Amino acid sequence: VAIIPTSSTSERRRPLLLPALLLLTLASVVGTADARRPRKGKKKPEPAPVEAPAPPPRPVTPPVALFPASLPLSVGGVVPGLANSTAQACAGCHFDSHAAWADSAHADGWRSPRFQRAVAEAGTPACTTCHLPFLEQSAVVVDYDGGDLDKPLTAANPGFDASLRMEGVTCAACHVRDGKVVGTRPPEEFGPIPHPMAWSEDLGSDEACATCHQLTWEGANTAFYDTYGEWKASMYADAGVGCVDCHGGAGAGKSGFDHGMDARTGTGLSILVDLPGVTLVRGEDAVPVKVVLQNTGAGHSYPTGSPFTGARVRVRLVGPPDRRGEPTEKVALEHDLRRTLTEGPPWDVVEDTRVPAGGQTVLETELSIPYGEPEGAWALHVEILGTSGGEPLNEPPRTARILPLVVE
Ligand code: HEC
Ligand code: HEC
Ligand code: HEC
Ligand code: HEC
Ligand code: HEC
Repeated sequence: VAIIPTSSTSERRRPLLLPALLLLTLASVVGTADARRPRKGKKKPEPAPVEAPAPPPRPVTPPVALFPASLPLSVGGVVPGLANSTAQACAGCHFDSHAAWADSAHADGWRSPRFQRAVAEAGTPACTTCHLPFLEQSAVVVDYDGGDLDKPLTAANPGFDASLRMEGVTCAACHVRDGKVVGTRPPEEFGPIPHPMAWSEDLGSDEACATCHQLTWEGANTAFYDTYGEWKASMYADAGVGCVDCHGGAGAGKSGFDHGMDARTGTGLSILVDLPGVTLVRGEDAVPVKVVLQNTGAGHSYPTGSPFTGARVRVRLVGPPDRRGEPTEKVALEHDLRRTLTEGPPWDVVEDTRVPAGGQTVLETELSIPYGEPEGAWALHVEILGTSGGEPLNEPPRTARILPLVVE
């Protein structure tokens, strides 16, 4: 399993001791200059006062790497001061973070029925890393015979923690390393904290998200998960707009970070409709319609992420209820935005119909209404439905635009 390197994070690490050392040197230079300055009204210079020992530099805990090794990591025991390693132990003090996370896809990372179905289909335990980022979350430990994903060798895991498994991408996945809670600022910046703290510049970085949101199976022609790669190639990366800028809510970078991370679902696409007018005459020639999908809001392809996840564009004409009270409906167009893969590892991508960041897809069709249909108030519905494995989800559309029409 080749995960696109997260090592570039180390280049971003600032040498924090340097400013402290510089200050110290400056302080001693200033001190010496003062002592040498001649005093007015005295013939003989006074003996230099005994220099007070310089205060020791204020210690700043060095940052840690958030993902020092490839997944799965070890949660490494309960953090001193906390009751257990699960998200439940954080909820009392970090209520808002917990509430938003509990409603998020991260909390669902393992239990999601769509994931469960897909894993059963894929039939390899290689799918669990990322969805269960800690060793303790797996009932078995897995090794691959000669690195072959088709040949897993499994054994019981003595450190298995069923409670942690239920939580999928739990708080600890991003916040607990070596018995400490990892934040973004040195512990010296806080008052008393009921748990030991470490800090990491990786937390909140695009590369930390990439640890799980980017993956290329060995031997594959394209990345299986390419969200980071798509973002890196987009104008958002050039403009310095990263994952948490769009996915962290208004409070990104400050207290108040939105752990739902859902980036206002529905804002990814501009949906443009091109039609010669808003009146359709029953029984007359079909009217051409153009639907343009522009990816103006997502910092990566639309949709992104798992190749199981896709979207279906559906254009419908919806009319007044017929004699039986059923709404009249005519589907004018359906088009899938998804990737098609070969079956089984390493899952090569054979087709990609998604809308890249900043790109567009143009769909064309015709609208016509036979004479027998009711006249009056109709509407053109353009909807984007979520799909999993190519099948529409039993959920309301992700996005919908409705254009009222008149039928004569
Ligand atoms: C008994 C209360 C308590 C519990 C339980 C607790 N914390 Fe904290 N935590 C605090 C306090 C107090 C601070 C200091 C900063 C603040 O006031 O937010 C803090 C700071 C933090 C920070 C740094 C915040 C920042 O502003 O940068 C993070 C991250 C954090 N905790 C995560 C967790 C996680 C994850 C858990 C569970 C594994 C947890 N905490 C459990 C009280 C708690
Ligand atoms: C490199 C980490 C990683 C590995 C390994 C991984 N996943 Fe995922 N998976 C993710 C991430 C991140 C998402 C969220 C993006 C998304 O929703 O598409 C996700 C989402 C999914 C979803 C959509 C879940 C939903 O609720 O709709 C399915 C299905 C899925 N993965 C199946 C699999 C299967 C099957 C495998 C093994 C072949 C696998 N994953 C291996 C990281 C991973
Ligand atoms: C430890 C692995 C891991 C890390 C680190 C991680 N994610 Fe995820 N993320 C996942 C998995 C697994 C899912 C899919 C859960 C599911 O639906 O089954 C997911 C889902 C998501 C989703 C929702 C996808 C959907 O289909 O609704 C978003 C948005 C997201 N992650 C953003 C982020 C951002 C932003 C970061 C960095 C701050 C990040 N993630 C870091 C593993 C991770
Ligand atoms: C997928 C990774 C991820 C998960 C899971 C996660 N966090 Fe965070 N957390 C972050 C990031 C990223 C930040 C903000 C970094 C920044 O400020 O840019 C953050 C910030 C915080 C902060 C400080 C900012 C604030 O809003 O007060 C606290 C406290 C916190 N998280 C607690 C938790 C708790 C508790 C859980 C579980 C209920 C949790 N986190 C789960 C990634 C995560
Ligand atoms: C310019 C803003 C922006 C940036 C930057 C961005 N995203 Fe998104 N992302 C979105 C929007 C908007 C959506 C939701 C699209 C919709 O449903 O309309 C989304 C959706 C997602 C999804 C869910 C899959 C889906 O299509 O619903 C995942 C996973 C995700 N983003 C992860 C990431 C990661 C990881 C990064 C950084 C490498 C990132 N995003 C950068 C705006 C952004």
